[in-house]
Amino acid sequence: MKSIGSYPSTRLRRNRKKNWSRRLVQENELSSNDLIWPIFIREGKNIKEPIETMPGVYRYSLDKIEKLVEGAINKKIPMIALFPNIPSSKKDNKASEALNKNNLVCKALRLIKKNYKQIGLMCDVALDPYTIHGHDGVLKKNYVDNDETVKILVKQSILQAQMGCDVIAPSDMMDGRIGKIRKALDKNKFEDVQILSYAAKYASSFYGPFREAVGSNKSLKGDKKTYQMDFSNNLEALREISLDIKEGADMVMVKPGMPYLDIIKSIKENFKIPVFAYQVSGEYSLIKNAVNKKIISENSVIETLTGFKRAGASAIVTYFADKIAKSLK
Ligand code: PBG
Repeated sequence: MKSIGSYPSTRLRRNRKKNWSRRLVQENELSSNDLIWPIFIREGKNIKEPIETMPGVYRYSLDKIEKLVEGAINKKIPMIALFPNIPSSKKDNKASEALNKNNLVCKALRLIKKNYKQIGLMCDVALDPYTIHGHDGVLKKNYVDNDETVKILVKQSILQAQMGCDVIAPSDMMDGRIGKIRKALDKNKFEDVQILSYAAKYASSFYGPFREAVGSNKSLKGDKKTYQMDFSNNLEALREISLDIKEGADMVMVKPGMPYLDIIKSIKENFKIPVFAYQVSGEYSLIKNAVNKKIISENSVIETLTGFKRAGASAIVTYFADKIAKSLK
């Protein structure tokens, strides 16, 4: 872009001088329509359990869920995402619990869909909450087996759709799963169930608090670098996105968020698909802890979320959604 004009006839501070003027020239504005709120669920009754690594975020038993959903609807949050914390007694090598139609996620989906149709429900498709080793897929000789895992993910997706999930969100990074899941959904008459692919998901240190929240951190053996992306790469993200679009993704996700704004922008420039950003648990904890200690101000939250919009994100998954929606129009 060539810059036009020069000082002193051009003074950029003129437009910034008054509050009303700043509002007129504002280029991006965050609203509650941009937010997706992740909620952690657990077994039991009347439980609101703090997550130590994520101050202000809790695991809720299902009897607490309806209140939360009502709150989200009142604040005009368009969608919530459900993440289960499964007791280790229900985890195994094959992630059997993922396919149990009475598992936590299925129960929550049925409960919410019964009474609330006006909010979107999104569910992760991946096996890590259900495997004893904490990986997103099944292991063969200590390596996450792609094709065997995809077979289970397809079943997990169909089950979630049957229970009322609106947006199937595979976060596992297996090859070819979007195409297989789309085909199976269509075959089972779920043509209208959307797929949000975690297409560009990086092997990141910022997932630590989430793994604590769903209870996979202690069990996780090794890292996820054989399936999640290397954080040095950009072009590879574009290849992932183009494959997932071809396979039938309706929306794509970039994850984590803040260190990857360039990826959001380059996807936006290369493809015309809605891109979502995930401001992950580690990003949340960084900001929240600094705000709690009064090191930075609470306004930093809107600043980071608006940054995602500026980069080109259509929506943002954030643990701040519920709190921040209150302060937005
Ligand atoms: C599981 C999954 C992870 C997150 C969402 N789904 C963690 C991981 O891949 O290890 C991370 C979310 C967050 O950190 O907030 N596939």
